[in-house]
Amino acid sequence: MNDDRLEAGFIGAGNMGQALIAGLVRSGVAPDAIGFAEPDGDRAAALRAQFPGLVLRGPQELAAEVRTLVLAIKPQTLPQLAPSLAIEVTAAEPLVVSVAAGITTDRLAGWLGPETRIVRAMPNTPALIGAGITGLFANPHASARDRETADRLLGAVGTTVWLETEEQMHAVTATSGSGPAYVFLLIEAMTRAAESLGLDPATARRLTLATVTGAARLADESGNDPAELRARVTSPGGTTERAIAIFEQAGFVELVETAMRGAAARSRELGG
Ligand SMILES: NC(=O)c1ccc[n+]([C@@H]2O[C@H](COP(=O)([O-])OP(=O)(O)OC[C@H]3O[C@@H](n4cnc5c(N)ncnc54)[C@H](OP(=O)(O)O)[C@@H]3O)[C@@H](O)[C@H]2O)c1
Repeated sequence: MNDDRLEAGFIGAGNMGQALIAGLVRSGVAPDAIGFAEPDGDRAAALRAQFPGLVLRGPQELAAEVRTLVLAIKPQTLPQLAPSLAIEVTAAEPLVVSVAAGITTDRLAGWLGPETRIVRAMPNTPALIGAGITGLFANPHASARDRETADRLLGAVGTTVWLETEEQMHAVTATSGSGPAYVFLLIEAMTRAAESLGLDPATARRLTLATVTGAARLADESGNDPAELRARVTSPGGTTERAIAIFEQAGFVELVETAMRGAAARSRELGG
């Protein structure tokens, strides 16, 4: 096997592809060891200006020239693109890492070749600032070394969690994949309520954002159960107790579970 191959190649340099390329460069991989294929000429030029040396190729050439091939295009585009890479992938045998939501490793192997070593990844948007979390699943052909390679790639934009079954990917999608949107909704709702209570928009936003960030960090860094941390802010007869009672009467906890079950069900539908 020719080992002058590029370290990694990205098919698709949109939001996720760019975040991963930036992460790899930050982690010490030279831009001239990273290739990408991207039909949008302006986007490709901007990326090469940001990381001089980055290698621009067509998708098939890239598949033949890399050790790790990252599929970072929209899931609906993959059924057309992936079969066109089968010859190169079967011959050059790169590790394939797919971040496409809902596309199973079996479907990918059906397009790319039955022996393909595949790791499927579900990152989330905080990866754009290096604060993501990614669920990972490897097919049986992937080796321990392949898992390390995928872990390093996604670990460059946040933390990683390995799954035991591919079925769990639906739960990951409903939790951390879609989860940032739930938190943004809470931020929107708290900001709006703070304004209605008399704060100006900038102050309402600052207080809400610092509270969400601070509470998440406290829950993470103290190691305490969130229920215990909540009990500590909730003095009997106090203001927090009143608010929490209203949340509970309205079925907040059940509502979150119903919403996440809906997201997981939709993930199953999209996976086909
Ligand atoms: N964003 C997230 O939070 C997130 C989270 C988890 C998983 N994902 C997954 O990550 C993947 C990419 O998402 P994204 O948000 O980065 O999408 P995106 O911003 O639309 O990026 C996709 C990029 O791929 C390019 N592309 C399309 N067809 C191509 C082809 N044949 N060859 C090479 N490049 C091609 C697109 O170019 P054009 O615009 O010119 O078509 C675009 O630049 C999706 O499968 C998504 O499910 C995203």
